Amino acid sequence: MKNILVSGGAGFIGSAFVRHMVTTYPEYNIVCYDKLTYAGNIDNLLPVSDEENYRFERGDVADRAAVERVLNRYAIDAIVNFAAESHVDRSILAPDAFIHTDVVGAYILLDEGRKHGIERFCQVSTDEVYGDIEEGLSGEDDRFLPNSPYAASKAGGELMVRAYHVTFGMDTVITRGSNTYGPYQYPEKLIPFFATEALDDRPLPVYGDGKQIRDWLYVDDHARGVDRILHAGKSGEAYNLAGENQRRNLEVTRRILQLLGKPESLIRHVPDREGHDRRYAMTAEKARALGWRREFEFDRGLEATVNWYVDNEWWWRKIKTGEYLEFYQRQYAGRLASSS
Ligand code: NAD
Ligand code: TYD
Repeated sequence: MKNILVSGGAGFIGSAFVRHMVTTYPEYNIVCYDKLTYAGNIDNLLPVSDEENYRFERGDVADRAAVERVLNRYAIDAIVNFAAESHVDRSILAPDAFIHTDVVGAYILLDEGRKHGIERFCQVSTDEVYGDIEEGLSGEDDRFLPNSPYAASKAGGELMVRAYHVTFGMDTVITRGSNTYGPYQYPEKLIPFFATEALDDRPLPVYGDGKQIRDWLYVDDHARGVDRILHAGKSGEAYNLAGENQRRNLEVTRRILQLLGKPESLIRHVPDREGHDRRYAMTAEKARALGWRREFEFDRGLEATVNWYVDNEWWWRKIKTGEYLEFYQRQYAGRLASSS
């Protein structure tokens, strides 16, 4: 393995993975392939833009001819697929793009990768494929019960990876990360959205009672986990990358306000997300057996993250314009009007 294609590498986790791989493995050539949708951001790759073993190609994972071209041009040996539409609320408003990228895109990458004879295909997936889990921990062999169009599209992508392994003997691995947070996360997801809104003394719309539980994983731990599975995972297997930091949304919200010295009166309880999963939680045993361990405790990771948003307004202020404001309006205007 020498030439690695990282699809979706200009997004939040993909760019952390690209930055990690470019600096950790100077002997690899890392090619980032990304459509640069609203969530893709070339600024995320500025720290490595001058490195010799890094290249960027703009393109769609569902565009077969473009994928074929990039695989040939760089003699790609392995694909790590981060490319996705990734926001649950957007998947409720408009599922089409999720099917296009998360299902069809994953299939095109697999199919072209197989024709090209790549050595390994690594699919980056999510704990949301397991659906809501009231108690206990999801294990890799648990059944899929996805509840949102986003989760269902990720499950669809994964199942195609499985089929290409079983049917065509393709070497594949899958990672299932838990809710990830850290620098460079598009400010629509809970933590960067609330941190940047609170900085401007704007209301924080907590869905429903705010007692839903997510398991938080720091982005650098997620990136190192994908690296570990790419290198050491057994072909045909899936691996949970669990943060083992379960928190209720309200607790996370209060902590963000505390870190910023802002009042809890900014909290608004708004009508719940449709089909909202109450809890995600996974066991990390299988990835741990391969030597991966998350390093960041939630308190340390959250403080580092909130400080990053305080120090990097240049990065997020220009995002919170145009299309972002249209989404905000559709998602939150009605909800905030009926908030308590
Ligand atoms: P993100 O939305 O920040 O980034 C997605 C990237 O994919 C963007 O750069 C975007 O431009 C690119 N992209 C979208 N459609 C594309 C297409 N058709 N062709 C090429 N590129 C395209 O997402 P993220 O939070 O970094 O998530 C990355 C991956 O990790 C996703 O597959 C997601 O399902 C998975 N994941 C995310 C989390 C999380 O908490 N964010 C947790 C577990 C797993
Ligand atoms: P999110 O960051 O969208 O991740 P996911 O839906 O993939 O878990 O949301 C995390 C949790 O925060 C989830 O339970 C929904 C909740 N949430 C709110 O309460 N208000 C918001 O404005 C957002 C974006 C999320």
